[in-house]
Amino acid sequence: MIDAISFDQNRIKYLDQRFLPLKETYVDTNDYLSAIEAIKTLAVRGAPLIGIVAGYTVVLAVQNYEGKKKDFKAYFTKIIAEVEASRPTAVNLFYATARMKAVFNNHFENSQLPEFNELILKEARAIHEKEIQNCEDMARFGVEQIKKDLGHILAERKLNVLTHCNTGTLATGGLGTALGVIKKAYQEGLINCVYTAESRPLLQGLRLTAWELEQEQIPFFSHADSSSGILMQRGKVDFAIVGADRIAANGDTANKIGTFNHAVLCHEHGLPFYIAAPLSTIDTTIPDGTHIPIEERNGDELRSIYGRQVATASTPVVNYAFDMTPAKFIRGIITETAALSADYVQAINSAFESSNSATVGSSC
Ligand code: MRU
Repeated sequence: MIDAISFDQNRIKYLDQRFLPLKETYVDTNDYLSAIEAIKTLAVRGAPLIGIVAGYTVVLAVQNYEGKKKDFKAYFTKIIAEVEASRPTAVNLFYATARMKAVFNNHFENSQLPEFNELILKEARAIHEKEIQNCEDMARFGVEQIKKDLGHILAERKLNVLTHCNTGTLATGGLGTALGVIKKAYQEGLINCVYTAESRPLLQGLRLTAWELEQEQIPFFSHADSSSGILMQRGKVDFAIVGADRIAANGDTANKIGTFNHAVLCHEHGLPFYIAAPLSTIDTTIPDGTHIPIEERNGDELRSIYGRQVATASTPVVNYAFDMTPAKFIRGIITETAALSADYVQAINSAFESSNSATVGSSC
């Protein structure tokens, strides 16, 4: 059983994903700055998990406050700003801080500090529990969609699926988003084999998705990101499903760098390309994907492979952590309320209406 994240006795405990699959190292801390560092360095990662950790990070900071109530507002504003500066693309982080700010705005004035601490903790736990439940619901809707769209192939044989990055328990604390759909589809006898793209430069596919699939005993191959074309050309892939870090109001989707390439290749080969993501990953405050902030990370991540330097320190590189796939390449967006299809503007609006979830964005 993978224990990606837990919070107990005022301490956050997480599995440090930088060392997987070669070393399983658990870290526990009550220092909110260490928790922020864990987000920045990708010791914890994946949009829903980043949101969960952001919530618990605020809890740690609030619990460690030793000043007077009258000075608390300035402290709270500072820690929210620090958490929000950790990673820019996954909107789940801002969704979590917006919920923490709402607890402050609604309850701080009329509460004593210990009571306020309890309310903040309760909210962080609610975010965590909801993301676990979201995974179960996405898996159910995703499997239904696959049966509907690919029933003609399923009538003859099981399916081969391609995925990118890591979207499983490590990225969500629950079953997973895209990988949750794959796990459930496998349990239901729909999947023959998973192709997991390595996801350069930090190798979340090769290291983390492979590790999860191995534990689940699901047959898979890892492949270089650049091999997706030939795999599709040779008929080895029936569909692709990936997660998301931020989805705009029109369905344009930011996800791990390389996702766009897979989507275009699916389009070229007439293969369905799906996104699986909870509503907490949808940012309706931005009309389309051109407004999504795309994180650029240190070039050393590219100049080295798994910690070993392979290019000179002076080699100029570009290192975007995410890319943006236009909605026109996406066959469906699997959420916890339904599998959405184009027109996404309308479908996303209805999904929020039916869930009563508040949407938040980078403007929060
Ligand atoms: O940089 P990372 O590892 O945080 O990027 C993660 C991804 O791109 C995932 O595909 C996305 O967050 C969805 S996780 C369920």
